[in-house]
Amino acid sequence: MKIKIVYYSQTNFTKSVALRLEEALQEKGHDVVLEPITTISEKPQTESPPRLQQTPTLDDCDVAILGSPVWAFSLSGVMKAYLDTLEEAPHDTLLFVTEFFPFPCLGGNRALRVMAKKLRSKGAHPKTLGVWNRARKKRGPRQIEAIVQAALSSLDHEG
Ligand SMILES: Cc1cc2nc3c(=O)[nH]c(=O)nc-3n(C[C@H](O)[C@H](O)[C@H](O)COP(=O)(O)O)c2cc1C
Repeated sequence: MKIKIVYYSQTNFTKSVALRLEEALQEKGHDVVLEPITTISEKPQTESPPRLQQTPTLDDCDVAILGSPVWAFSLSGVMKAYLDTLEEAPHDTLLFVTEFFPFPCLGGNRALRVMAKKLRSKGAHPKTLGVWNRARKKRGPRQIEAIVQAALSSLDHEG
């Protein structure tokens, strides 16, 4: 299956999950492309909306995986702006977010809901893979593996 992992990452935490997903999916024989969303400013959180530089397309894959940090208890403005650029998204689109705070109810769940709603309006049937709550350091590796396992099992179901 051709899978595209598109992520935004300012301090490389979301990127690290994207890289782990890439590795795990390649091990299963998938054709995986990893592409970042990039911004013109180094501090896009100071812009409304943030100006984007690189906006990966999603029309050349069977499955898209989108990853974003949580900002201000919701989805990062960069991922919001990126989703607004899309005309269509693949039916099978899988989502994950990373946040500093220790519980998904402190922004992670909301960010996933915002992402899913925007994607449904682009024709996708998004599925949530999970949240990495970075403040819970001991749980980090388990949370990342849970995201990876959720992706693998979701792809198994999609055949
Ligand atoms: C502008 C800004 C706002 C943030 N707001 C939140 C927040 O509301 N809740 C939270 O848990 N983390 C928040 N964070 C922390 C990031 O979500 C967290 O560090 C994330 O893992 C960063 O991912 P990245 O390294 O891929 O950019 C914020 C970070 C930034 C830069």
